[in-house]
Amino acid sequence: MDFQLTEEHIMIRDAARDFANTELLPGVIERDEKQEFPKEQVKKMGELGFLGMMASPEYGGGGMDTVAYVLAMEEISKIDASASVVMSVNNSLVCWGLDTFGSPEQKEKYLSKLTTGEALGAFCLSEPEAGSDATSQKTTAIEKEDHYILNGTKNWITNGNSADYYIVIAQTDREKKHKGINAFIVEKGSKGFEIGPKENKLGIRGSDTHSLNFNDVKVPKENRIGEDGFGFKFAMKTLSGGRIGIAAQALGIASGAYELAKKYSQQRKSFGTEICNHQAIAFKIADMHTSIQAARHLVMKAAWDKDNGNNYDLSGAMAKLFASKTAMDVTVEAVQVHGGNGYVKEYHVERLMRDAKITQIYEGTSEIQKIVISRSVLRD
Ligand code: CAA
Repeated sequence: MDFQLTEEHIMIRDAARDFANTELLPGVIERDEKQEFPKEQVKKMGELGFLGMMASPEYGGGGMDTVAYVLAMEEISKIDASASVVMSVNNSLVCWGLDTFGSPEQKEKYLSKLTTGEALGAFCLSEPEAGSDATSQKTTAIEKEDHYILNGTKNWITNGNSADYYIVIAQTDREKKHKGINAFIVEKGSKGFEIGPKENKLGIRGSDTHSLNFNDVKVPKENRIGEDGFGFKFAMKTLSGGRIGIAAQALGIASGAYELAKKYSQQRKSFGTEICNHQAIAFKIADMHTSIQAARHLVMKAAWDKDNGNNYDLSGAMAKLFASKTAMDVTVEAVQVHGGNGYVKEYHVERLMRDAKITQIYEGTSEIQKIVISRSVLRD
């Protein structure tokens, strides 16, 4: 067992920290308020290699391991969770999925642009009636000669308007249930592909969340990912890794709020002393620190499992379940430590508290993670 990060990991973590502080921190409050997508910042993330960290260097990726990815995710999420969800979806749901299961032609045409930030990706599984119940896909992809015809609606899609390429999950053969589901790469601007209005959200307000409509959209057969009927497995396998990314995002939100609360408690005075000298506050800091460390160990273990060829469905689900609860608990306490100031935007913690909630919902709710965990442990 080795709890030590390598020099390379430390370099990547520090580069992400530096980027977050210099490029993301300025304007983060305004972007949240105006629901403004961090376009310039995402472009820079691409140039610095943060959008395709784990993808093959052959296709412009960084060829890094998952540990490096979660370290960078944590640092960026401490400052701007709206930017980090763009990073997470592009890295773990889009680039990883294409790199692992795409054809050489798909990788050449799409992946090589997605890894560098030249293009952005979106992952479209959720529907109005298929959120947690992901096998109940209503979107259809009917096979015709050399193409498929897509019809249906997708909901709550991250990068909904900003993406260039969309991985869309759809039902081809309803009789075959989940074995009749496929995944397709759909290009923005395809005839019949419409982007709905932007969602007005509680948190991660800078991220770009939309519904999408497909009306007789023609998708060439070569844009299907994997064999016929592989779409549901593709979605599940990709989401297993995605959950590690979201767990790292939750960890970052928690540690960002903790660092602010700790610093504030060492400066703010009441009853003639810094508030950290009151046990009521000191114990909050102790609880936050302990739960964040526990979450970090779960996140790192899941990343390590993925890097070492172990099954990471269970460890990723546990990491996401625990880290997202930690993010909620810690951010609520960070607001409390800040008192009245915590309720005011300029202190950042109220935003982190709002941003934390989504980590218990997307890429599988906490209840879905408990299904994955309980099925896995009860099977043994
Ligand atoms: N890897 C590979 N295959 C898997 C798998 C995994 N992790 N999990 C399930 N499967 C396979 C099963 O083996 C089974 O295949 P076989 O029949 O060949 O054995 C098939 O998938 C169906 O599995 P289940 O019978 O377990 O299916 P289920 O209906 O009981 O549902 C579920 C399983 C875990 C609840 C699943 O539906 C699920 O994960 N739901 C949540 C969906 C989700 O995470 N949505 C997030 C949207 S994306 C998003 O949020 C992105 C964003 O923008 C931020």
